[in-house]
Amino acid sequence: MPALNAIARKLVTRGKGILAADESEGTIAKRFALIGLPVTLESRRDYREMLFRSTDAMNKYISGAILTEETLEQSAKDGTPFRELLAEADVIPGIKVDRGAFPIPGSKDEKITEGLDGLRNRLAHYAELGAGFAKWRGVIAITNYAPSRNGIRTNAHVLARYAMYCQEAGIVPVVEPEVLADGEPGDHSIERCEEVTMETLDAVFSELRLAGVDLAGMLLKPNMVLPGVRAAERASVEEVARRTVETLRHSVPAAVPGIAFLSGGQTDEQATAHLSAMNQIDALPWTLTFSYGRALQTAALVAWDGQEKNVPKAQAAFEHRARMNSLAALGEWRPELDMAARAA
Ligand code: 13P
Repeated sequence: MPALNAIARKLVTRGKGILAADESEGTIAKRFALIGLPVTLESRRDYREMLFRSTDAMNKYISGAILTEETLEQSAKDGTPFRELLAEADVIPGIKVDRGAFPIPGSKDEKITEGLDGLRNRLAHYAELGAGFAKWRGVIAITNYAPSRNGIRTNAHVLARYAMYCQEAGIVPVVEPEVLADGEPGDHSIERCEEVTMETLDAVFSELRLAGVDLAGMLLKPNMVLPGVRAAERASVEEVARRTVETLRHSVPAAVPGIAFLSGGQTDEQATAHLSAMNQIDALPWTLTFSYGRALQTAALVAWDGQEKNVPKAQAAFEHRARMNSLAALGEWRPELDMAARAA
């Protein structure tokens, strides 16, 4: 399917990455709590408008934006549809299509992502609205009981079914199996994360192949291989980069055009440093870039603080993080660049 491959490759254009702005109502409420802002339809719109109108960031560093259904159909304050704003910046609109993760019956600490019912019809509608790609997140927790083989397999199976529906609708599936770094208790070692990530990716690609997913017409959105956020033993940037790339080499076929990481469990700067270190490793078979939510947005959200007068400051913060991550996608980020910005 050449059309799918063309979209996937455009999303991982060198030096560009994806802005994940698809926080559900519950998640955006958590983010807004950071600045004490009530969540309303208007506050969500104003916040996302601030991001999408950051023309430097959007034009230069962002290839695609993952939206919720609300945002895909929404307009800016002056009535311009968000889809038009994104098109002006040559940013491909994407859509989060899963309906969230729910406890697996009879299983301890594990969740399965729901949202397959009616997905075929929803995807046809999103394609009409111009969505070029979609996202579905499966979560794999590491606890004293989890993950079980069943937890990994069921999530992998559902990801493959989602991916097939997307490709049928002409939409590129971004397949996101996230091994959580910030779950409970979150004190697991980097070795444990590596082992679980490998087992998860192996299961995901086995299901994708079985379902007949065209690997050239999809993207993978994985976690990096990290110690749990409360692990006593931390890992260096080089170790994270090396283990992550080794795990991906083991489990991700070269037919996949690109890998766009999530940033959960990392600070803004760690997410940038890890991506840059990976891109310094020779002979990678896929493009490695970012599909960050928190690591692209947190500084901008704090600078914005829910006030219109802060929009320029917030956009500058967003542009800075987008530029840092663009450099990381080229393997050219250096810590001094962030230090200089902090000092300024
Ligand atoms: P984070 O980068 O904040 O982990 O979010 C990315 C995302 O889309 C999670 O589904």
